Amino acid sequence: MIEIRNLSKRFGSRLALDDVSFVVEAGRVTAFLGPNGAGKTTTMRVLLGLDFADSGQALIDGRRFVDLEAPILSVGALLDARHAHPGRSAFAHLRALALTHGLPQSRVEDVLYDVGLSEVAGKRVGGFSLG
Ligand SMILES: Nc1ncnc2c1ncn2[C@@H]1O[C@H](COP(=O)(O)OP(=O)(O)OP(=O)(O)O)[C@@H](O)[C@H]1O
Ligand SMILES: [Mg+2]
Repeated sequence: MIEIRNLSKRFGSRLALDDVSFVVEAGRVTAFLGPNGAGKTTTMRVLLGLDFADSGQALIDGRRFVDLEAPILSVGALLDARHAHPGRSAFAHLRALALTHGLPQSRVEDVLYDVGLSEVAGKRVGGFSLG
């Protein structure tokens, strides 16, 4: 479960988050929609410990991201597809994540299958469309 409680964040004079609260229940596929500049990315960045809120809390199963012992085991996030090395294949990218976090290679294959990328697993990520 994700809990966003009374989150506020200011960048200089710009109020990016103004007392934002919501809950995402476990197991629910949930879309997070809003106009450009509404604060979606900022909310996700705070949730993932990449940015800090001025006030409020962002919790994953009751804990802050920074307090999770092995975050990759409970949180998967891709805020910006450019963070994957363009010259690495989808398989190699996930394999590196799995190897460095004690996950079996079978998990890589399962995840690629789940998202419909098995057939292009050997292709370089840089050639994929952003979508
Ligand atoms: N690092 C930053 N420095 C200054 N202002 C920022 C910064 N990051 C975000 N903002 C501002 O905070 C507000 C929220 O931005 P944010 O990127 O969270 O919106 P968003 O909902 O993800 O928008 P988009 O739909 O365009 O991705 C905007 O006004 C944006 O200009
Ligand atoms: Mg955004």
